[in-house]
Amino acid sequence: MLKGKRILLVVAGGIAAFKSQELIRLLRKHEASVRCVLTEAGAKFVTPLSLQALTEDKVYSDMFSLTDESEMGHIQLSRDADLLVVAPATANILGRMAAGLADDLATTVLLATDKPVLAAPAMNVRMWTHAATVANVETLRQRGIHFVGPNDGVMACNEYGPGRMSEPAEIVAAIESLLSAEKPPLEKPPLEKPMAGKRALVTSGPTREAIDPVRYISNHSSGKQGHAIAAALAQLGAEVTLVSGPVNVPDPAGVKVVKIESADQMLDACLAAGKVDVAVCAAAVADWKMAVPAGSKLKKKPGAAPPALELTPNPDILAALSKPGAKRPTLVVGFAAETENVVANAVEKRTRKGCDWIVANDVSPATGTFGGERNTVHLISAQGVQDWPTLSKDRVAMQLAGAIALHLTRPRPAEAAE
Ligand code: C5P
Repeated sequence: MLKGKRILLVVAGGIAAFKSQELIRLLRKHEASVRCVLTEAGAKFVTPLSLQALTEDKVYSDMFSLTDESEMGHIQLSRDADLLVVAPATANILGRMAAGLADDLATTVLLATDKPVLAAPAMNVRMWTHAATVANVETLRQRGIHFVGPNDGVMACNEYGPGRMSEPAEIVAAIESLLSAEKPPLEKPPLEKPMAGKRALVTSGPTREAIDPVRYISNHSSGKQGHAIAAALAQLGAEVTLVSGPVNVPDPAGVKVVKIESADQMLDACLAAGKVDVAVCAAAVADWKMAVPAGSKLKKKPGAAPPALELTPNPDILAALSKPGAKRPTLVVGFAAETENVVANAVEKRTRKGCDWIVANDVSPATGTFGGERNTVHLISAQGVQDWPTLSKDRVAMQLAGAIALHLTRPRPAEAAE
């Protein structure tokens, strides 16, 4: 269906520009004609000569070239196509498009065109999740610009998350979908499964410590973050056991859920899960339990003082799982919910508990983290502290699952020595 279609491909300056060459080859195979506009930064990644050879056409890059203008003006260039494709669409070119700039040939043709535009973003995960890029993409979407990707995956910069340019075949499918009225809307490509064959254990939610058969000590943990992590690890292909205290969030799909109440039961369930590659302790385990829970309901007696509750510490599940030995998971991740000195306390907690990573978050009431949808976290490892931007709990979960996958499947030399 692409036979005879004319695609104007804008190649901007990103490492993914090398994939644009494969895109051209695929489009030509489908008998579409491709003409390229190469930005100055794009030319640092691919040469005009290689694009010219692949397209069998002139490559345009200079806004003020008299030859270009005499052969074909930029207005004509922008309209003499059925579709404009920006691949890779870097944070920079998306920003310039959103601002309506026309400061080079690429942005000028994009501003001058009356044809549909499809952008295939490609950038570092933090650039993609930065509020400025999010706002630019939203603006462009509202103006009718179409997007394909980005995909989640491992990036050139060794981070994991959304930002990888869609594969050339996915971009071709998106082009076909746009140029054909009958085709269904673009679908998200399937996620990679880097955790296939790995086992994961996740704790989530609060625990309940019985005072007597009807009363208990507990906390406000919603289980949203822990459940999202279990779901994300399962999406990446891991076999996941989720040990959860009482919560109101649904069981994640594709995860074995073990429901418990007390910290003692949570510890037993964790040990019963057997050897795992990664343990993520996101549960808000009660610090104390009754030294001896009452066997029957404590009675109010007229005139008598309230009962003194004698407490004793609960087992520390994170510390137990972190103990060195054959059964220790390759990676143990704890959480630190703090209301002050968030990073400093978490750094100290990592050493004290013996775990590998700590995900630290500020849960002071003003942040709305407890029970809320968003989370601002810092990832603390032996390598130092990574400050993540404020993200939805699902996105934090996916980014953490991605970092875990990266760690378990591609240990870097510095970490291998941890
Ligand atoms: O000591 P603190 O409760 O601040 O530590 C928080 C981290 O330790 C979390 O990862 C939590 O799931 C874990 N934890 C645990 N068992 C406990 C207390 C905390 O696994 N008894």
